[in-house]
Amino acid sequence: MLKCLISITVIISCTLAKHPHILFILMDDQGYGDIGYTYPTNDVHTPLLDQLASKGRKLNRHYTSWLCTPTRASIMSGRYPIELGIQHDVFDSNTEECLNEKELLMPEVVRHNGYATHLVGKWHLGYSRWSCMPCMRGFDTAFGYTSGTTGWITHKVGSYYDFYECATSSEGGLTWDVLTKDKGIYSNFLYNKRIKKIINNHDPKTPLFLYLPMQSVHSSYYAPENYYTCTDHKRCTMQAMLNSAEDLIRDVISYFEEAGLWEDTVLLYASDNGGPHSAYHSNGHLRGYKSTLWEGGVRTPSFIYSSNHKIMSDKLRGTETNCYFHVADWYQTIISLSGGWQKYERATGNEMPASLDSRDQSYHLLNEERDTGICPRKQIMLHIDPVKRVAGYYKDGMKLLVGDQDNGNSCSGTEFYPLNIDSIDLDIIQLFNLTADPNEADDISAGNPDIVADMVFDLTEYLEKQRPLQCQLPTVDGSYPNSVVPYYTPWDFSEGYLPSSAFQKL
Ligand SMILES: *[C@@H]1O[C@H](CO)[C@@H](O)[C@H](O)[C@H]1NC(C)=O
Repeated sequence: MLKCLISITVIISCTLAKHPHILFILMDDQGYGDIGYTYPTNDVHTPLLDQLASKGRKLNRHYTSWLCTPTRASIMSGRYPIELGIQHDVFDSNTEECLNEKELLMPEVVRHNGYATHLVGKWHLGYSRWSCMPCMRGFDTAFGYTSGTTGWITHKVGSYYDFYECATSSEGGLTWDVLTKDKGIYSNFLYNKRIKKIINNHDPKTPLFLYLPMQSVHSSYYAPENYYTCTDHKRCTMQAMLNSAEDLIRDVISYFEEAGLWEDTVLLYASDNGGPHSAYHSNGHLRGYKSTLWEGGVRTPSFIYSSNHKIMSDKLRGTETNCYFHVADWYQTIISLSGGWQKYERATGNEMPASLDSRDQSYHLLNEERDTGICPRKQIMLHIDPVKRVAGYYKDGMKLLVGDQDNGNSCSGTEFYPLNIDSIDLDIIQLFNLTADPNEADDISAGNPDIVADMVFDLTEYLEKQRPLQCQLPTVDGSYPNSVVPYYTPWDFSEGYLPSSAFQKL
């Protein structure tokens, strides 16, 4: 940093450290046992991730939603899924389901703060209208797929392509293309190529926000042969998929390094929910799996790392935190890292949205001097699902679970789901002391009526904050994809958003 004093060009890169480049890697379905470092007994190896985590700061209490769409919606909007109508399920094809366009999304603010913003990978926050798509919601460019996942080689969901790119700029308007020309090429290779291009074209004087919602390690369970180190078990496939993910991440870091960006970069790493109930996955010693409120469904690997001591205090390097972190907290944390709200408010005249559920944890995670030493949050409103009639709530070291956790109800368009005290089954209550019992083996609700009453009271405050369920939206006639337009793309132009130079290759 001494160099800052002697050269003007370096001063620019020094001030950049205040607003670092941000690389946010969001893994898909990576469970607590689907990474090397979380338990000594884990059967998979992730040397690169383990090393970055051990040199950075581990988030031991990183909580997500139980499914992809609600987690991603919380990251983007800073709100709990119940306030977005995403209490029950993920977004489906051929419906109007979409992350409410009234929400101000994190990348929009980050872009106002002077960042170039790019998405490579999964969206899954709706695609019915152009105004639902990432290029209309704060990303300069996006490349990837709109659904829960896409074919690794075919880039199709069923018989329809789900692979696109879009870009938006004040001069060029919105451009969009469906990508069929790359069929036959493994998706991770295409993401790799795309990221390399983004970084090669990036002006290092501009701060970069690269959001990388990975296709790894979601089903379908597949990796090219050269990534396999064994073949006799499903976990061999998981290991091969992790090898491929690490290969991609290693290359991404090397592109940042070659462009001179890595020194001024903060890496944020998390998984979107626990591993599904499948022999390919492991949630380690945690109970349950994806789509349940047990720890195995909602507590995921996460860490933060920067090699720059101006971004990350030396004293926090190689440490871990047991403070609660909810995925919604990435919203305020990333906005804070990008410079906060002032620039956005000056530029637009709009204020920060009211009553966000997101906490800025940037000091706690990165800045030892400005950290208060007190956990940024004391509680998490984990979830309320009026279809399964279950809820989850954390306070201090305790976890409250309401309702029958094995309830398999799914949303039906004809049924009415109350969004009040009747949305949950208060006859079934469980309480766990996660400090003493992280694996939720002993329900101690009977011996702790005061704690239960206090936590149920807190939870009921949230019941009326729920928004109507989006999973009740019907399939739309003539929506895409269909036999005429065999790819995922918006079909509803009612908002008046039209791509200015869209072209179609099919
Ligand atoms: C929870 O467990 C911790 C660690 O064993 C213990 O110190 C604490 O008193 C327990 N809390 C309750 C309410 O049982």
